[in-house]
Amino acid sequence: MIHTTIRIAELSDLDKIMLIEAQFGEEAFERSIFRRQLGMPTFCVLEAEGIVVGYYLALTRTNWGKIRLYSIAVDPTMHKMGFGALMMQDLISKSFSRGYVSISLEVAEDNPARHMYENFGFKQIDILENYYANGNPAIKMELEF
Ligand SMILES: CC(C)(COP(=O)(O)OP(=O)(O)OC[C@H]1O[C@@H](n2cnc3c(N)ncnc32)[C@H](O)[C@@H]1OP(=O)(O)O)[C@@H](O)C(=O)NCCC(=O)NCCS
Repeated sequence: MIHTTIRIAELSDLDKIMLIEAQFGEEAFERSIFRRQLGMPTFCVLEAEGIVVGYYLALTRTNWGKIRLYSIAVDPTMHKMGFGALMMQDLISKSFSRGYVSISLEVAEDNPARHMYENFGFKQIDILENYYANGNPAIKMELEF
């Protein structure tokens, strides 16, 4: 069994995070965006056998009591091994235990990640036209606690 740990992202993780983020192509976030969020409890990496293989970045608006998932990704060579689901479970349980009322996210219609979100109970609440750089819409999804 693979030993996994989820912990808050650190400065030394940024190079690996940017390598993983590159799979988003023109939608990839810049390093400075991740750098600004270092230390946030909702910016975490997943280590498998001590090696960072994925991360998630979610942000909170404390006055709204809501969490927004900005990015979640796993090393492309390690997709479909359960790591994405582990990170979603971590985000959901931490958000719930900290008293947040919901998690929202945007996802492309044809992204298989949609199945993962549906598995966790996320529901489609909106379609955002022209959301991505290529003009494609995004599906807005939400999980209410
Ligand atoms: C989305 C992502 C984080 C999922 O991580 P993962 O480790 O590959 O996913 P898991 O192995 O934990 O699978 C979780 C669920 O996702 C769904 N899923 C993942 N990849 C899938 C695929 N290619 N086709 C269909 N369903 C898929 C399944 O429902 C799966 O649950 P199941 O195994 O019980 O059927 C990963 O594929 C990724 O990094 N994708 C590129 C970045 C991205 O698109 N991020 C989401 C932006 S909104």
